[in-house]
Amino acid sequence: MPKKKSPVRAVLEAEQLQPHLARAIIEERIRLAILDGSLPTGTAVRQQELANLYGVSRMPVREALRQLEAQGLLTVVHHKGAVVAELINDTVSEAYDLRLLLEREALRLSVPLLDETDLATAQQAIDQLEVEQDYSVMAQLNRDFHMALYGKASNRRLLRLIDQGLEEEERFLRFNMLEMGLADLIHQDHRDQLEAARARDTERCVALLEVHLQRAIDAINRYLDDKADAAGA
Ligand code: NI
Repeated sequence: MPKKKSPVRAVLEAEQLQPHLARAIIEERIRLAILDGSLPTGTAVRQQELANLYGVSRMPVREALRQLEAQGLLTVVHHKGAVVAELINDTVSEAYDLRLLLEREALRLSVPLLDETDLATAQQAIDQLEVEQDYSVMAQLNRDFHMALYGKASNRRLLRLIDQGLEEEERFLRFNMLEMGLADLIHQDHRDQLEAARARDTERCVALLEVHLQRAIDAINRYLDDKADAAGA
């Protein structure tokens, strides 16, 4: 009987990595495969298999998996080892609530000070975002757009926290756009927000951000409710 290819083997291509680059490259390969959905929730990710695939010892693999676990992309299951984590869980809406607090403040500080370069950067990011197909590039463009509107806030620590939140959102962008069918609404939110920023209408910009983030929270809650219903809870 032919042995069935493991999901990891089917998705990731074998290559010989330089030992000193292995950790970073393995981390990135797996991260992208999780974010674009090719390694679905529950897929086992085994150290030895990856070590064989990339021709390296288990040490850099273990480090890469540890990083992915810290990012919430992998979770360690008793007797099973590392598996791809459930990307949507009930802590997600807490993360969005926190983002709303921080980003609302950043808009208030930044919008009155935005210059033409900031607005052009934001415009370019959303124009590209609307035609881009690759979800990891889309996540970066989404981040570039929002950060362009926050960039004039003088509090650097605030901006760092916001950037972390946007980085975390990479996990949900594909989910919201594809699974929940929100792509058109998300693009429209961005265009409306930029228009308000251009008019230096800070409060309208804040109100539109609230709509934008609430849309994501609602989609996630809807998904969790459906899942609970399906489980007969
Ligand atoms: Ni956005």
